[in-house]
Amino acid sequence: MNRSRCVCCSSLSRLLSSRVVLATLLAASVCGGSAAEPSARPDILIADFERADYGDWTTTGEAFGPGPARGALPDQMAVEGYLGERLVNSFFNGDGSTGTLTSPPFRIERRYLQFLMGGGMHPGQACMNLVLDGQVVRSATGPNDRPGGSERLDWQQWDVGEFGGLEARLQIVDSATGGWGHINVDHIRLSDRPLPGLLTNVARAFTVEGRYLNLPVKHRAPKRRVRLEIESRVVREFEIELADAAPDFWVFLDLGPFEGRRGALVVDRLPEDSKALDAIDQTDAFRGADGLYREPLRPQFHFSSRRGWNNDPNGLVYYRGEYHLFYQHNPYGWDWGNMHWGHAVSTDLVHWRELPIALYPMAYGDWAFSGSAVVDARNTGGFKTGSEEVLVAAYTSTGRGECIVYSNDRGHSWTEYAGNPVVKHEGRDPRLFWHAPTGRWCMAVYDEFRGGRWIAFYSSPDLKAWTFHSRIEGFFECPDIFELPVDAQAGRGADAGNAASKWVLTAASSAYRLGQFDGRVFTPETPMLPGHRGESFYAAQTYSDMPDGRRVQIGWGQMATPGMPFNQMMTFPCELSLRTTDDGVRLCWQPVRELERLRARKHTFDPRALEPGDNPLANLNIDLHETRIEANPGSASALRLSVGGIDVIYDAVARELICKKHRAPLRLRDGRMSLRVLTDRTSIEIFGNEGEVYMPIYRPPELSGTRSVGLLAEGGVARVLSLEVNELKSIWLQAQEGGAGSAAAASTPVMR
Ligand code: FRU
Repeated sequence: MNRSRCVCCSSLSRLLSSRVVLATLLAASVCGGSAAEPSARPDILIADFERADYGDWTTTGEAFGPGPARGALPDQMAVEGYLGERLVNSFFNGDGSTGTLTSPPFRIERRYLQFLMGGGMHPGQACMNLVLDGQVVRSATGPNDRPGGSERLDWQQWDVGEFGGLEARLQIVDSATGGWGHINVDHIRLSDRPLPGLLTNVARAFTVEGRYLNLPVKHRAPKRRVRLEIESRVVREFEIELADAAPDFWVFLDLGPFEGRRGALVVDRLPEDSKALDAIDQTDAFRGADGLYREPLRPQFHFSSRRGWNNDPNGLVYYRGEYHLFYQHNPYGWDWGNMHWGHAVSTDLVHWRELPIALYPMAYGDWAFSGSAVVDARNTGGFKTGSEEVLVAAYTSTGRGECIVYSNDRGHSWTEYAGNPVVKHEGRDPRLFWHAPTGRWCMAVYDEFRGGRWIAFYSSPDLKAWTFHSRIEGFFECPDIFELPVDAQAGRGADAGNAASKWVLTAASSAYRLGQFDGRVFTPETPMLPGHRGESFYAAQTYSDMPDGRRVQIGWGQMATPGMPFNQMMTFPCELSLRTTDDGVRLCWQPVRELERLRARKHTFDPRALEPGDNPLANLNIDLHETRIEANPGSASALRLSVGGIDVIYDAVARELICKKHRAPLRLRDGRMSLRVLTDRTSIEIFGNEGEVYMPIYRPPELSGTRSVGLLAEGGVARVLSLEVNELKSIWLQAQEGGAGSAAAASTPVMR
């Protein structure tokens, strides 16, 4: 059932009195007349700044650089709101540089001169001037005159009707050298049609009757600040690139908690001709749910969020049959922002079911940044209320500090601890763990002590009162720390008997140090060692409270999915181990054994001598797969495995694994090396020599449809000792036929 209602029409008779209450016209310089002139002629483009140079515009000084910039320049915040690929950006060499950029003469042949402008508000110093006969007759600046602010460009216009037919020049000036001492300009045009005025605080009232409020998004449209009020109380507030006309995609706001209640959606600024509010509706299945997980760039055996953006995995914890995967989530946009904790669960680490959002920002702009979760089986915090063990999570609430939340319903809903924040410092990303020898909770947390990059260690008897102990420098964001046996048998984790163990201390980049941890201080025994050897892998975290002692890690897969209603993904869960190699003890990554559940058709090949030109995999035409090879390079100089349009090369001369620009040493053991590669729509994950090298790689959209596979020897004959290709099943579409993580299940109301 997919009931669709326009919120402004729903229950119209009951709501007439409260419909569209707050709309006011913003009296800004941009507001022109009302309707378009019926006889409007086509616009005249003065400049779109899409070329690498300024053409016949002339510069002085250095502020404008050699030509239009491709977005932000080094050390500049993200620049948004310009059209096309380039814009004028006088931040070249920072705010200190100065200069001018002047147009050739042009004739004023329309009533309005319109342009996109951003940057500093320094009249006369960082501005654009309209110059007639050597006189400045109009001038405009960007919006920023104090720290903070935004690099967004917005439309402005001048009514130049009085200068009709005259010749003019535009002069963009940057003589400002302090904060916001730059100006950004794009897309200058003459038009008969005035820009639409902007309405402020536009409201739509409605009664909550559907599960989801569907919101239209246009990627790169100006961000609007939207709030949902339920019975006059603000319950949600966020930024969204609302589509004023046709959307790129739809996102949803979960109305589940507000069923049957009166609400209003209020948008801070909207062009008077915007269709956005009219388009918003309520439904029981969110818009697009029928095509969910069938999108062309949807990872098929990696988790990605139904809608919106994900970054770091958070709060990875196992409890009573469920692996929880919380994650940094923007439910309302394709890019980072509005940080929430999204939530998914799995019963096998492979199939995921997305649940309602677990943590909402506490207030507008006070976002829920990364953190971790544990089972407080001893109820040390006293948060337990029922028969279930209590789960406790720590996260960074950006306006407050490190905060605690707890759950008495198996991690499905969370309550703020009244004594928050529990730690206040310059930093973020608390990692909780139990330290058995001292019988205390520990927190490893990223700390910007004296402007440096540290991990700080705290301990606590009850997860509420924390004592600082020590810090170690050289780690950035998202710390993780755990103890692992050395050379234990894979899959046995902590049950590995009396094997010597080491502590692994790591952070967002996945580089790590080995050492010992006594509950207060980490004592390193190695320098920083490289973690993954590929790309697009960041901010990984390992599971707490695993039932079998395995140490399983999931990372943020920074795999962009342009054109999709979602963006990014999680990497495939890997079991970590410490193994003695020729270089010493090293961390190794192996896909969790549950991967086997996804295996479909298996293609095996007999051991063979691989001559140059032979391709034993030539007949394969497959989408999702796991490819495994063990080989002795023999006289070949290289072995080239092609999967998903990407070449994975073993350079037998350099003894290196190579993919794209990434290289990592891969030694022969007993004359052989092994490769295992997982191929999904937007990624490949390479495991060399059973995970001694872990190389995650982005698979760009133009390769996502490549189904051929290849294995070639170059420069000589290689000996293939074993070769198999396992086609893999989708975790989503297979599940739709009735399994655990079904898309259908994902869109039905879930216990909270
Ligand atoms: C790492 C990170 C964390 C932070 C989060 C915000 O990717 O920057 O340090 O908590 O992302 O989304």
